[in-house]
Amino acid sequence: MASPLLATKSVDKLRSDAEYSYGLKRRLGAFDLILLGIGGIIGTGIFVLTGRAAAANAGPAVALSFSIAAVASAFAGLCYAEMASMIPIAGSAYTYAYATMGELIAWIIGWDLILEYLVGAATVSVGWSGYVCAFVKNVTGHDLPAAWTHAPIVWNEAVQEVQATGAIVNLPAVLIVLAVTAILVLGIKESARFNGIIVLVKVAVVLMFIFAAAPFVRTENWIPFVPANEGPFGRFGISGILQGGTMVFFAYIGFDAVSTAAQETRNPQRNMPIGILGSLAICTVLYIAVSLILTGVVHYTKLSVPHPIALGIAATGLRSLEIAVEIGAIAGLSSVMLVLLLGQPRIFFSMARDGLLPPLAAKVHPRFGTPHVTTIVTGCACAIAGGLLPIDILGELTSIGTLFAFMLVSLGVLILRLRRPDIPRTFKVPWGPYAVPIGGALTSGLLMYTATTHTIIRLFAWMAAGLVVYFTYGVKHSVLRTGKEPPVPFADPHTETPPPQIL
Ligand code: ALA
Repeated sequence: MASPLLATKSVDKLRSDAEYSYGLKRRLGAFDLILLGIGGIIGTGIFVLTGRAAAANAGPAVALSFSIAAVASAFAGLCYAEMASMIPIAGSAYTYAYATMGELIAWIIGWDLILEYLVGAATVSVGWSGYVCAFVKNVTGHDLPAAWTHAPIVWNEAVQEVQATGAIVNLPAVLIVLAVTAILVLGIKESARFNGIIVLVKVAVVLMFIFAAAPFVRTENWIPFVPANEGPFGRFGISGILQGGTMVFFAYIGFDAVSTAAQETRNPQRNMPIGILGSLAICTVLYIAVSLILTGVVHYTKLSVPHPIALGIAATGLRSLEIAVEIGAIAGLSSVMLVLLLGQPRIFFSMARDGLLPPLAAKVHPRFGTPHVTTIVTGCACAIAGGLLPIDILGELTSIGTLFAFMLVSLGVLILRLRRPDIPRTFKVPWGPYAVPIGGALTSGLLMYTATTHTIIRLFAWMAAGLVVYFTYGVKHSVLRTGKEPPVPFADPHTETPPPQIL
């Protein structure tokens, strides 16, 4: 072995591990996974960011921004589908990296995924709180107290410093995260059912918007379709379409969380690609339709509001549907949190099974069959982040963390195709081993490149903190090095195959 830090986990061992679900319950089918994907995808991105991206960056061409972000996501989605069908393990991108690039990179990506899932859910909780405040105001005419509905700090971009807002905590954000966490502890099937109901509501609202608003489109609002650049990079024109793409990329985050449910899925080799790619395809079509209709109904210059879809409906004169849209958005954002907070504990679970986190994190609840310890820890950390931090810092960290994970997963597919062409793959990315993985790494890298300097600095600071944890704990307890696996959690002997031995 060249260096323990570069040691990779055997793909054969991982594939045999995947046969056994370590007490997690295999309850999900392809349809559940598609709903889980849509549950994680449709949220703040389409309900909030579409308007901002149209008004500030792309104009009606925000539909093209959605298409560009869809291409980057599709490359990554195809790579995730190949990996998830080949190594159907809850650790997702973390595990794929362990099998391809070694323990250190696996740790880095596992630590990075905290930004996507935990910080992502915190971002959405702040968006949720904003929608609830607007809804309460709409219905009662009263504002909720600002001190309890905002973060105590804010990032002032102009003077480049953190400033106090005078608020105490964003309480609605804290409460929704704790409620979602409670559902997640209760069971995977319960969580999937809750998600399914919400997905039906939010897809119905999106379809209602498309069909109700389409007759009110005024084609003159689409002219010019690509407004001329106003000087600065990203302010309309081609660069605006690109920067809009980076902003609305957030709207696609979530499909990859499907892969963390691999050990709770029946026949994951077949169902994982269906869940990942099916949900991504459905959402892409909905997003492009919504953005075209929205900019056709309301002139793009008027769309910089916190609830652009509700504004779109209001502009048609169909005021009765406005409340329905707000309720749909509030419900819709809850399922995004649910799916992201479902993903995070399962990554921690896998890291703990590999010895990189304490064995407590590998515990599974004997009755609920969920990784309850990591779910509760994740929920509390997310509630603190959502309660105390502002949405822009959280949102940018989520996007850059996700793009980094997408880049490494894309490279992982390429590496495994070259190193282990013999492994049976029930799903393969199309056009050979190079085109899609390299396309995925390049598009994700390009979108990362457009992030602000502060976001990149925060990403490095986060990674540095992760390396401190790894070198003080993980490196000493790694199962790959010690050969000592944590005890197998509770399992139902009638439904589970026996745990595999270390190979
Ligand atoms: N894609 C998710 C959203 O837009 C994270 O809220």
